[in-house]
Amino acid sequence: MTPLNEPVKLPCGLVFPNRLVKAAMAESLAGSGNAPTPTFLEAYNQWGQGGWGGLLTGNVQVDVDHLGTPLDAAMHGEYSGKENNEALVGLWSQYATACQRHGTPSIVQLCHPGRQSLRVAGRRGVFAPTIAPSAIPLQLGDSMVQRLLSWLVFPPPREMTQGDIEKVTRQFVDASRLMADSGFSGVELHGAHGYLLDQFLNPKSNKRTDAYGGSAENRAKFVVDIIHAIRKVVPETFAIGIKLNSADHSSDSFEDTMTQIGLLMEAGIDFLEVSGGSYENPTMMGPEKSARTVAREAFFIEFATEARKRFPGLVLMLSGGFRTRAGAESAIKQNACDIIGIGRPAAVNPKLPLVFLDEKVSDEEAQMVLNRVPVPSFLRLIPLNVGAGLETKYYADQIKRFAMGLKTFVPGI
Ligand SMILES: Cc1cc2nc3c(=O)[nH]c(=O)nc-3n(C[C@H](O)[C@H](O)[C@H](O)COP(=O)(O)O)c2cc1C
Repeated sequence: MTPLNEPVKLPCGLVFPNRLVKAAMAESLAGSGNAPTPTFLEAYNQWGQGGWGGLLTGNVQVDVDHLGTPLDAAMHGEYSGKENNEALVGLWSQYATACQRHGTPSIVQLCHPGRQSLRVAGRRGVFAPTIAPSAIPLQLGDSMVQRLLSWLVFPPPREMTQGDIEKVTRQFVDASRLMADSGFSGVELHGAHGYLLDQFLNPKSNKRTDAYGGSAENRAKFVVDIIHAIRKVVPETFAIGIKLNSADHSSDSFEDTMTQIGLLMEAGIDFLEVSGGSYENPTMMGPEKSARTVAREAFFIEFATEARKRFPGLVLMLSGGFRTRAGAESAIKQNACDIIGIGRPAAVNPKLPLVFLDEKVSDEEAQMVLNRVPVPSFLRLIPLNVGAGLETKYYADQIKRFAMGLKTFVPGI
């Protein structure tokens, strides 16, 4: 039997029946109401029948004023319990049912974009600042033109006050409670890819001099406090995970990241998903080369292997780059991780596990090679790295296509 077919049990008791988990992918289908729409629900209905061990939803923003992109699903205000919010729980229950109707445990990814909120995204107004641990603007390059474009696309942030910190903590807690009441199996905090929680963890974006800045421990305080606060309001059986960026073994931040993982574990996370990158350096999408020239599949396997050595009891999910059954099996067999996170291939084939887990299918067939989405020549004139944005747009379009019953395509065809 392929090791991918073995179940994984989280400390809260939740069991993923196999090791292939769909990674979070923002669907861009929530419409102008920033709430699940019929097409959105249909995408999850399809994934729910795909044989996945679990589904991670696309990011749900905890504050509709601060969206990553205009069509994100979001929380629209405070949540004070089922009794006062029947309609809201009804809506999100439809989402949980679409995901889990066929028995696939599903976890909602919760996010605040912080300074990575597009100027046109969110209901705060195009001239309002974003919020971040420190007032350090996003810089998509060093040249004058790149700085100007960064400013145009992403409003410069203001430093969060203690009041802001408490408000955002409450927003994560309210969202978790709503997801638990709606029947989801857990939440994953988006602590990777340069979003707000990552901005706090990372010394490059966190220059605070109060209890939330300075040492690795202080930078982790915001996230650790959020995890404790969520634990108080959700059932013990409800999973709380976090997606975190890896750090190069040789980099200054490596030991800090390991310290922070230790703190997250102490705070009681059920799993840690390893990824990497940010808008400034989008390594989550992998090297800017054709997939065939990428010798090794999983982008962040060295980091996962090291984290595994330091924290053998921590359930690890590794996302980014898996394209073949053999590659996924190899990561499990070498004990780099417990769970394989799969993003883009799941947008092209929502039922990929039915292929990967079927032992009658040969290794040659159990794969999906994906070239990078080509950058059209007119876009090469823009002095910004648009590759990751194009990848996201391309695969979000594929999600919409399969949800509408249309054929999907791999890039370059
Ligand atoms: C369309 C699209 C949307 C994404 N949205 C999210 C998201 O909401 N949250 C997140 O953590 N990662 C997001 N990602 C990143 C994926 O979860 C994953 O880390 C990345 O695609 C690498 O995995 P892959 O090589 O299997 O695609 C997105 C990726 C794509 C292609």
